This record gives sequence, C-alpha cells and structure tokens, in this order.
Amino acid sequence: MQKINPDEYKHILFFTGAGMSAESGVPTYRGRGGVWNEYRWEDYACQTAFERDPERVLKFHELRRQAVLECEPHAGHYIISDMEKRHPNVTVVTQNIDGMHQRAGSQNVEELHGSLWRLRCPWHGVVEDVGKTYRCYTCEDCGSWLRPDIVWFGDALDQYVMKDAVTAIRDCDLFISIGTSAVVYPAAGFPRIAKDAGAVCIEINPVPTELSPMYDESIQSTAGTILPVLF
Ligand code: APR
Repeated sequence: MQKINPDEYKHILFFTGAGMSAESGVPTYRGRGGVWNEYRWEDYACQTAFERDPERVLKFHELRRQAVLECEPHAGHYIISDMEKRHPNVTVVTQNIDGMHQRAGSQNVEELHGSLWRLRCPWHGVVEDVGKTYRCYTCEDCGSWLRPDIVWFGDALDQYVMKDAVTAIRDCDLFISIGTSAVVYPAAGFPRIAKDAGAVCIEINPVPTELSPMYDESIQSTAGTILPVLF
C-alpha cells in the first residue's frame, strides 16, 4: 500500500460514515450488530415516530448517547485531526452524529445528519445538551417537546450544511470515503460529485460497496488499521 503525501494535494476531504467509529465501539447502522437490526427506524428515527411517542424516541437517543460516551476516538480519528493542524485545507464531511471527530480535535467538520448532542425546540431553536441523559425533554420557554437535532429518515438535510459540504466536495482534490455503506441519499451521491469535479477518490471499507467501482482505489480494510498506514 502506497503512502499518501498530503502535501501533494491542496484540499483533502474525509467523507465518513458509521464505520469510521466502529473501532471505537460505536455500533454501525447496518450489517452485523447494526442499530437498525435491533430497532426499527420507523419507531425511533423519523418525525412520525416522534409525534406518536416523543418520550420513547428521546429515551432511544439517550441510549445512543450513553453508548457513545463509553467510547473514545481511535487512531484514525486522530490522524484526521492532526492533518488539519499540519495541512492548510482539510475538511471532514460526516454522516455521523456521534461527535467523535470533534472529540479527537477536528474543527472543520460538516455534520450532514445533525448531532446527538443537540436538541431542537420548534419555536425556540437549537440547544446543546451533552450529558448521558437529556437535561429536560421539553423546552423551558414554551413546554414543547424537544426533538434531537438529527436528520431522520424522511427529513431534508439542513440547506446550509448541505451547501457548505457540496462546496467543499467540489473544491477538494483528494476525497477519502471511510466506513459508509453508501446507500442513504443525498450523502451517497457525494462521492460522485467529487469524482466529477476531478478529485482523486479513495474508499476505505472492509467490504465493497455499490460505489466501489467508481473509486480510483477501493481499499478493503478498517479505518483504524489503514489510516496509520496511508498517512
Ligand atoms: N472501518 C471502516 N469501515 C467499516 C468498519 C471499520 N472498522 N466497520 C464497518 N465498516 C463499514 C461497513 O462495511 C459498512 O459499509 O461501515 C459501513 C457502515 O454502514 P452503515 O451502518 O450503513 O452506516 P452509514 O453508511 O454511515 O449510514 C448512513 O444511514 O441510518 C442512516 O442517518 C444514518 O448516517 C446514517 C446513514
């Protein structure tokens, strides 16, 4: 496996999915041990489920928070955050809501699917909430149920996050996808945008995905194993 010299690129973009956090111990969504094998997303991860039973949905997300708080970023997360310190232009576009990149020190992170660590009141906006359990299930100002600030099934992506992510993807000349099954759109369309804009595209995943043939190189390995080898 050839080493990548970051200095040969003007803008390096890491596009990450649940597999990025798998070696930290955070379950992925699909495949063995996947969250959606144990829980039906229709009951926990869509606006309809929230409207039907907000407390059940909030309790599910509290479990997810507890699971993430028991995990730590791994070597791969730190390689990405260190690169941001050494290289003038590094962006992380993540589908992950776990905040692991930020915990490792990455600052330039676009969270496509929101964050486990924020709640949203329909009338009073977004609040940060970072504990094991939520401070409060309802808004202190108006009493409305607070919903996780997460892009669930059927939700549109935040237009500003989307715009910033796509702008960065069009601008990058090295695009590295790590640990995504590439089945959930619009995010799954991002590698194609990078490719069409002329970036060198590399995929890291222990198994091939539908998008693997599109990549210049598809490396069948795990994030924590291969990132220290590549950089
Ligand atoms: N290193 C790299 N990749 C890994 C590792 C690892 N250690 N372990 C597993 N993978 C790969 C799996 O092979 C799989 O292709 O990570 C991928 C995880 O896929 P998903 O669970 O589908 O996660 P993701 O692609 O991020 O899901 C996209 O779907 O449920 C929604 O909103 C949720 O953001 C999520 C979106």
